[in-house]
Amino acid sequence: MTSPLRIGVAGLGTVGAAVCDILLNSQDLLGEHVDRTIALCGVSARDREKDRGVDLTGVEWFEDPVILAKDPGIDVFVELIGGDSGPAYDAVSAALARGTHVVTANKALIAAHGVDLALRAEESGAQLSFEAAVAGGIPIIRTLREGLTGNRIDKVFGILNGTSNFILTEMEKSSRPFADVLKEAQAKGYAEADPTFDIEGQDTAHKLCILAALGFGIEVSDESLCVEGISLITPEDIRSAGELGYRIKLLGYAARKDGDWDLRVHPAFVLLDSPLGAVDGVTNAVVLESSLLGQLVLEGPGAGGQATASSVVADVCSIALEKARPAFGRRAASLRRTNALPIGDIVGAFYLRLTVQDKPGVLARITDECARHDISFATVLQRGTDPDGNVPIVVVTHACQESAMDQAIATINEMPETIGSPKTIRIVDL
Ligand code: NAP
Ligand code: HSE
Repeated sequence: MTSPLRIGVAGLGTVGAAVCDILLNSQDLLGEHVDRTIALCGVSARDREKDRGVDLTGVEWFEDPVILAKDPGIDVFVELIGGDSGPAYDAVSAALARGTHVVTANKALIAAHGVDLALRAEESGAQLSFEAAVAGGIPIIRTLREGLTGNRIDKVFGILNGTSNFILTEMEKSSRPFADVLKEAQAKGYAEADPTFDIEGQDTAHKLCILAALGFGIEVSDESLCVEGISLITPEDIRSAGELGYRIKLLGYAARKDGDWDLRVHPAFVLLDSPLGAVDGVTNAVVLESSLLGQLVLEGPGAGGQATASSVVADVCSIALEKARPAFGRRAASLRRTNALPIGDIVGAFYLRLTVQDKPGVLARITDECARHDISFATVLQRGTDPDGNVPIVVVTHACQESAMDQAIATINEMPETIGSPKTIRIVDL
């Protein structure tokens, strides 16, 4: 039997503690797959005294994760601290520099520095693995990197943030306020240290960029990506979506488009019977469209300690089996840096909700303004007058260019009869 594979884990929070628990207490199960002992040798976190819910007696404590990453007694450095700079970046860099394999769940780090880190891993002969960085427990990285090698990937899209999907689902089911449901997601360990990443779409954007690198071989510039979150979605929008046969989901979408790249993150109306329409709670779903397989849907727990630890431990086991693969499934130097298509160029239908004064001709003016921009209406719902005597209107448009919609909305917003700001949500045909 070969020598033990020696593991150092930095970060003992929701994910780190669950990983240590598996490494310490599921040796028999791991031994069925890996003919090598996997030994947890060192750990690091900020507070040594904190109860982690797992007995770490006999495991060496390191005050500094960078020292752990550089320790010659470690073969695999597992980074579960988080953040795209600071200790996570420093420790991962230090590990790769000395040829120590790295496993991380840190999508912010991989989205920001993945290609550079992959180059360094190639130089030092280390493995850089990040299965847990996208869609928690779903083995999507492995699927894209290894399982579809003979395919051209045309589209990758999905629900990639468990916290947002949990919030949208609970708001729909129980009409609880946004802030209340966010607190529950945090308590369950789904949310990032800074939950604005979850609800404002950045976490989904990080994951989408990683999927685009794996699927398309591109490195998308952050500034070119449209990223919108769910914090402005109201119970009224959720109710309207239901009435129209849709549900609202935070969508990460990446597709080839006539030589360009249509990449975006935003809340979207998706049909109830589409592949994402019935995905609820913390569950994530990733849909791949590829040349040989057509559509493939992977669905499962997208966040939480155990789900994420499942992916981290799978990466550790692959290293134990010496199944070396380039981090992005190709040489890091071959990834092409590119922009996403400007969001104004995208063509699609819209949900539009606005409130107007109850006066003759107002709806006609709105219709005319939209017609001027080549936008036609598929459905109009007018819901009687509200207590102030104003009229809430919901419109579903046919497909139109997004920049035309923006111009029409800007004019409608200026109409004296318009109360508040009109709200639009994209409708995406999946
Ligand atoms: P967490 O619960 O906040 O845990 C972070 C851990 O890092 C804590 O143990 C903390 O120590 C430690 N830490 C922070 N600063 C440190 C420093 N300077 N030196 C050493 N340790 C430090 O976070 P998490 O939810 O486990 O997430 C960890 C990573 O996994 C993140 O990259 C996250 O994006 C990713 N991820 C999380 C999930 C999920 O569902 N939670 C899913 C997929 C990916 P103390 O405990 O002592 O404060
Ligand atoms: N905060 C993330 C989410 C964790 O809610 O999906 C999983 O990456």
